[in-house]
Amino acid sequence: MDRNSHPYRSVLYIPGSMDRALDKARSLPCDAIIFDLEDAVAPDAKPEARQTLAAALKTGGYGKRFKIVRINALNTAWGLEDVNVLRDAGADAFLLPKVNSPTDVDNLADLLGPDMPIWVMMETPVSVFQAREIASHRQVEGLVTGTNDLTKDLNARYRADRLPLMNALQRIVMAARAARIVAIDGVYNRFRDGDGLKMECEQGRDLGFDGKTLIHPMQIEVTNTAFAPTESEIDLAERQIAAFNESMASGKGIAVVDGNIVENLHVVAAQRVLAKARAVAEMAEE
Ligand code: COA
Ligand code: MG
Repeated sequence: MDRNSHPYRSVLYIPGSMDRALDKARSLPCDAIIFDLEDAVAPDAKPEARQTLAAALKTGGYGKRFKIVRINALNTAWGLEDVNVLRDAGADAFLLPKVNSPTDVDNLADLLGPDMPIWVMMETPVSVFQAREIASHRQVEGLVTGTNDLTKDLNARYRADRLPLMNALQRIVMAARAARIVAIDGVYNRFRDGDGLKMECEQGRDLGFDGKTLIHPMQIEVTNTAFAPTESEIDLAERQIAAFNESMASGKGIAVVDGNIVENLHVVAAQRVLAKARAVAEMAEE
């Protein structure tokens, strides 16, 4: 799906085993859902979770929310059966964890066929080094940052400013932008802390992420707000486009708005702001 026509501000994880949460999500204002069979589901619960999830997806009712199924890695005891049970359940994309190379993606693509979009967890140091190659895989349409796994593998510490992760976060955004696909930030673990979440959302947004993965419904509103264009951004974008068009009409290549120059590239950015605002507005119309 085009990252300009569908918003991916809030991407909520739901354990495939949580019947109530699977139902509740039908009325939550998130832009996308990751239906999880991997780390949020205990080994013993995985077979039943597959069936619960397949049934929920077949029942439907998720509206415009983009539906992503996260399977277990294919070198685990569960990955292959996850694909077999969920392949035709109605997901919009499959999310592959613990990816290290485009070959890992190829192995899933072989099972799914060419028409199912694949999203990738970026959560190992090797994946970050391989980000460009992974993001350019023909079937990959989104990168999801796994900040908890990355922190563990890096032997890093949790810091509010996420300095230890900054190199990885930026490489992930760069790889996604180079390949023109979606980039989603990692989760904020202290899920009842709305102020901390807001700061981390704004940091991820400023880095260039399209949205953030979430673990609890109470995180959705803050995230939707942080990743949507503000009224003043929309107003500025409209004025920039109008001023630039006027300048062009009078034979000039540059306009000035609020004391700042507006060139062609600013117009492209302004159009992107308006496209995102439209996508957000359409998402709200059920
Ligand atoms: N998606 C949808 N609904 C959810 C939800 C989620 N991720 N997490 C909780 N809810 C629902 C609950 O079902 C409950 O609904 P109800 O009131 O109808 O019963 C309501 O929200 C309130 O839940 P609450 O009691 O506050 O949560 P909890 O303390 O039971 O659980 C977590 C907290 C973090 C364990 C739980 O939110 C969770 O499992 N989140 C997902 C974790 C995950 O997927 N991790 C993998 C990726 S990092
Ligand atoms: Mg992980």
